[in-house]
Amino acid sequence: MVRREIIKKYAVFGNPIKHSLSPLIHEYFAKNYNIDLSYEPILCTLGKFTVEATNFLEKGGLGFNITLPFKQDAFKFAITKSEIATITGSVNTISIKNGVIHGDNTDGSGFITDLKNNIGYNLNGKKILLVGAGGAARGVIPNILYQLPSEFKIYNRTLEKAQKLANVFKDIGEISSVKKEDLNKYNFDLIINATSIGISNSKFELSEIFFKEDAVCYDMSYGKASNSFMSWAKENNLQFYDGLGMLLEQAADSFYIWEGERPEITDELRKLLKNKL
Ligand code: ATR
Repeated sequence: MVRREIIKKYAVFGNPIKHSLSPLIHEYFAKNYNIDLSYEPILCTLGKFTVEATNFLEKGGLGFNITLPFKQDAFKFAITKSEIATITGSVNTISIKNGVIHGDNTDGSGFITDLKNNIGYNLNGKKILLVGAGGAARGVIPNILYQLPSEFKIYNRTLEKAQKLANVFKDIGEISSVKKEDLNKYNFDLIINATSIGISNSKFELSEIFFKEDAVCYDMSYGKASNSFMSWAKENNLQFYDGLGMLLEQAADSFYIWEGERPEITDELRKLLKNKL
């Protein structure tokens, strides 16, 4: 008799997807819990998300992550959604909950966990500036608001987009946009880069002084993409953290949704990832 191995099938959908670190992270988690699991990077054709996601689930897939540019498609694909997914209109984790396709978003929780548990930074009562008003910014706003900062502003190159984004979340907490020329009216504790400036290798440029001497800079990107904000932080003598911890924590939250275990992020795993960057 042929013995069939039962492997739990997971995946990440994106375009591009080649450089995704998620397979490495989830395979590491699975190994530590002795779970027989496959986690496949799937290069999804633009406009074909629903077809390809349905196909994966029909072939026995138990769940998957979603990265750019499909998080809104995944939101539409999910039948039921978590509160955060509903508020952000964006889904990064699909699971099957009581036989129904369920959408979650762990980006915001991963971001907060990294700040709180790994960096030891508490957002409560802090003055926060979020730079950028695209999908990445949108994903973390509700979780930041839940921490009750004393000030929360969005600055974006295109002001109108910052205004619109602030408006989306105004019922959850105090949030508004800020113009470039008004930045110097503030004294921010935390500056978060949620732009894609680093991906295009452009320079992060903001010349006014609008932060405290001991302000913390956090880039939601990592690797080469975080170099431009890191250089700016260093020029201004500010502490800097990249988004590698956020990537790991959001993965741990997704793994918990699927497997009911929340993996600890070890130094060994961090090292493993840094070597891949
Ligand atoms: P993502 O999903 O990664 O957030 P996005 O939705 O395309 O990507 O958003 C990219 C963000 O980076 C936007 O806030 C964009 O500013 P605009 O709204 O003005 O386009 C910002 N961004 C990208 N390149 C930039 C640059 N060179 N300078 C300033 N902001 C930039």
